[in-house]
Amino acid sequence: MGSSKKILVTGGAGYIGAHTVVELVNAGYEVVAIDNLVRSDLTLITGIEKITGKKVNFHKGDCRDKKFLTELFRSEGPVDGVMHFAALKSVGESVQKPLEYHDNNIGSLTALLQVMQQQGVKDFIFSSSCTVYGQPDSIPVDEQAPFKKAESPYGLTKQICELILEDVYKTGFRIISLRYFNPIGAHPSAHIGEMPIGTPNNLVPFITQTAAGWRDRLTVFGNDYNTPDGSCIRDFIHVVDLAEAHVKALSYLHNTRAHNLYEAYNVGTGNGVSVLQLVNAFIKKTGAKLPFRIGPRRPGDVEKVFANPTKINRAMNWKPRYSPEDALVHAWAWQQKLSR
Ligand code: NAD
Ligand code: WQD
Repeated sequence: MGSSKKILVTGGAGYIGAHTVVELVNAGYEVVAIDNLVRSDLTLITGIEKITGKKVNFHKGDCRDKKFLTELFRSEGPVDGVMHFAALKSVGESVQKPLEYHDNNIGSLTALLQVMQQQGVKDFIFSSSCTVYGQPDSIPVDEQAPFKKAESPYGLTKQICELILEDVYKTGFRIISLRYFNPIGAHPSAHIGEMPIGTPNNLVPFITQTAAGWRDRLTVFGNDYNTPDGSCIRDFIHVVDLAEAHVKALSYLHNTRAHNLYEAYNVGTGNGVSVLQLVNAFIKKTGAKLPFRIGPRRPGDVEKVFANPTKINRAMNWKPRYSPEDALVHAWAWQQKLSR
């Protein structure tokens, strides 16, 4: 590809941001990564450098800080696009601290867009989520499905951010929202992966930490759902495939002639996999011991959701390369590295 375009990545020290920085560098982009490190440290930045063999141009700062952003754009020179990963993402925490979530997730977006506008940067990719759909009426869910009442303040921030984007793109932005389903896994090199702070809320880090002996046992939240094995169904997407979708979305934006554009795309495999299927696949694929029990349902969980990914398949020629089993093997390799 050999492009020398410069891309600003917010939340670049986080899980999905770091994997995307690797794919951007591999595709020939120059990357400027920023993060305020509220939910991360520099571990993944070091891991990116090991994978790519290049130093990461990293700046510590907050996306709500317009002065910081303005100075950054000035010192870095022309930027060709922004990928905005920075956000708080814990559903449970957002119920306890809704104002913090609104302030951070919405404030970051509006500050960033204002500075982009001042600097004449038009191309923007936003980390949205399947959470905007709530429990959809029909599955697989496509992008036409209406936003249901948000299940949490976190989900509401993603809905509000999308509505803001749908409003402001008309003033000269070219924007894509990528609605991720359930990102899992780690880079195959095991140099970067998911690093939740404290007890993980998400299934796969809980699985790997339990198998590593960091946690006593996994609880499967409910086996009385209306699904074949009674556990919830999700669309688990390998984080490297998700990262590649960002690179494709960026070249889609760079190749369009449109002056204003707003489009939203599901990023999922299109396959529903149950929690128990994933747990059993982990045991089978890794040979690791995974103590688990069936517990009660977790409040707020939707029964089943998976993507109709036809829109991104067609428009961007994107398809996942990895299976959920691959993702589990990679997540386990990363966990074992963390455990050493
Ligand atoms: P993460 O917590 O690993 O990464 C987010 C990063 O943003 C962290 O490093 C954090 O320190 C940083 N950050 C937060 N607020 C900031 C601010 N105001 N200024 C600068 N940096 C800030 O999370 P992730 O899993 O990599 O998620 C990335 C994005 O994808 C988020 O917007 C999240 O809501 C979205 N998303 C994640 C998932 C998922 O399951 N992981 C699913 C759908 C959508
Ligand atoms: C997956 C399944 C749990 C942990 C969340 C957000 C969503 C999006 C992705 C950001 C569910 C079950 C989990 C455990 C379990 N994030 N589970 N035991 O809830 O589908 O989606 O992350 O936008 O907005 O809500 O992901 O990984 O928490 O759970 O049985 O210890 O695993 O009940 O069915 P979820 P998850």
